[in-house]
Amino acid sequence: MEFFDSHAHYNDEKYDEDREEIIKRIYEEGITHTVCVGYDLIKSEYALEIANRYDFIYATAGISPNDISDYTEENIKEIESIAKNKKVVAIGEIGLDYYWEKENKEKQKKLFIDQINIANKLNKPIVIHTRDAAVDTIEILKNNPVNKKGIFHCCPLNQELIREGLKLGFYISFSGNITFKNAKSKECVSLVPIDKILIETDSPYLSPEPLRGTRNNSINVKRVAGKIAEIKEISIEEIAKVTYENAKRIFSI
Ligand code: NI
Repeated sequence: MEFFDSHAHYNDEKYDEDREEIIKRIYEEGITHTVCVGYDLIKSEYALEIANRYDFIYATAGISPNDISDYTEENIKEIESIAKNKKVVAIGEIGLDYYWEKENKEKQKKLFIDQINIANKLNKPIVIHTRDAAVDTIEILKNNPVNKKGIFHCCPLNQELIREGLKLGFYISFSGNITFKNAKSKECVSLVPIDKILIETDSPYLSPEPLRGTRNNSINVKRVAGKIAEIKEISIEEIAKVTYENAKRIFSI
C-alpha cells in the first residue's frame, strides 16, 4: 500500500534534530508522496528547499492568517516568485482564522484574496486553513473563484462548511481530528464522496488517537485512512488508493 499525506510541515523547528531520519523513515513506511506546506515567507522558502532535496516531497507557498505580520507587498511578491517553481503544487496554507486572530478580520480577508489572485495567475490550486470563519471563507470563495479549486485542509467538522465547499468543487482533507473522541467524524466523513477525500497528518501537530499530544509524522496518515475506511465501510487499501489518486489529480502530479 502507498499513501499520500497531503499536508505536513517538515519545515517546522520540531524536526530540527532528526528531520532527515524521519523523512527517510516515512518513505520506507509507504508514505510515497507528501506535501510540505508553507505558512509564512521563511517557511515557504524552506518548504521548497526540502522539496528540492527529496523527489517524493512537494511544497506549497503562502502566508497563513496566523502569520499576518508577514503581510507586506514585498512578501506577497516573494511568495509569488517561490510559487512559480515547478515543485510548488499549491498556494497555501491561506485563509481565515477567527479563533486565534479576532482583531484583524479585514486584513485577513485581503491577504486571503491577494493570494487567491496569485493562485489564479499561476494556475495552481489553494490549500485553505479556516477556523471559526466558515461563513466568510465561503463568501470569499464565491466572490473570488479559484480556477484550479483546492483543498479544505484539516477540514473543520462542520457539515455546512463541507456541503458548501463541495458545491464549490473543493476537496476535503481529513486529519487526525476525525479520530478524537466527541468529534463529529461520522456525519462529516459520510457527507464527502470518496473521490473528493484527501488524507493528511498536519505533522508535527494533530496526532491521531491514541497518540494525541505527541509529535506527529506522516506514518500516522494510515490511522486517518483507517478511520475513514471504518466509517465508509470500505477497505483501507481502497481508501489509500483513491486518496492517492485524488491528491495527484488536485496537485497535478
Ligand atoms: Ni498545516
